Amino acid sequence: MIAIHAKNIQKSRGKRLILDLDLHFTDGGLHVILGPNGCGKTTLLRLLALLDTPDNGEILLSDNTNDLTQNLKTRHNVVLVPRPDGLFNHSVHQNVEYGLKLRHIAKTQRLEQVQKVLEAVNLTHLSRSNALSLSSGEKQRLCMAMAIAVKPDVILLDEPTSSLDPHNGHQVEQIILQLKKENRMIILVTHNISQARRLADTVTFMGTDTMISQNPAEAFFTTFDQDGLDGYL
Ligand SMILES: Nc1ncnc2c1ncn2[C@@H]1O[C@H](COP(=O)(O)OP(=O)(O)OP(=O)(O)O)[C@@H](O)[C@H]1O
Ligand SMILES: [Mg+2]
Repeated sequence: MIAIHAKNIQKSRGKRLILDLDLHFTDGGLHVILGPNGCGKTTLLRLLALLDTPDNGEILLSDNTNDLTQNLKTRHNVVLVPRPDGLFNHSVHQNVEYGLKLRHIAKTQRLEQVQKVLEAVNLTHLSRSNALSLSSGEKQRLCMAMAIAVKPDVILLDEPTSSLDPHNGHQVEQIILQLKKENRMIILVTHNISQARRLADTVTFMGTDTMISQNPAEAFFTTFDQDGLDGYL
């Protein structure tokens, strides 16, 4: 089973300490991160995806048998789902194929894999369309397809349904649940409390001033319902 340890991480922006934490994400599952604007959620996801480096500490990824530290394999195993404004001005198909090319996957296998993931996110009918011409919901599903195509063990999602209507939001949640069934670890940042209730196995709550707590979802929501959370509601 895959696990991530964000070990003694510190990250500052200018003179301000944004993150100061030691967090474990274990047992696969779906881990939700909640917290107010500016508390460092996106910063944390970028560190977990090795797209940015902490000032102190390290990100460790392990499975049952191996400790895979910060090497290329780790990087390929942990994927941050791109944001819709990062899509390329090319076809839907080419956008998905890009990550596979980067990983030197052979052409026939690439085509097969692209078709498979476009089917999974219900975009086969738009495969030749320009990615930039898609609706918000379609763009978000394409972003998911780009991440899924490279078969990562860990998928990081930063507010994947924030600009979607309920129907499209539901479709994206279904894709997330399917990934969970496939035993991938998912770390999901959201401001949507109902979504967190529907999906989370654990909830990490990041407050201001680097305050942080991590609990099983049930325990978190019991406290949340009784007391609310200062500074968040
Ligand atoms: N590249 C950067 N340069 C300077 N400051 C930054 C940079 N990126 C983030 N910050 C600051 O770090 C803090 C945390 O930002 P971050 O984007 O991680 O917050 P967030 O929790 O994702 O917020 P939101 O809920 O609004 O998405 C913010 O105060 C932000 O202004
Ligand atoms: Mg953010």
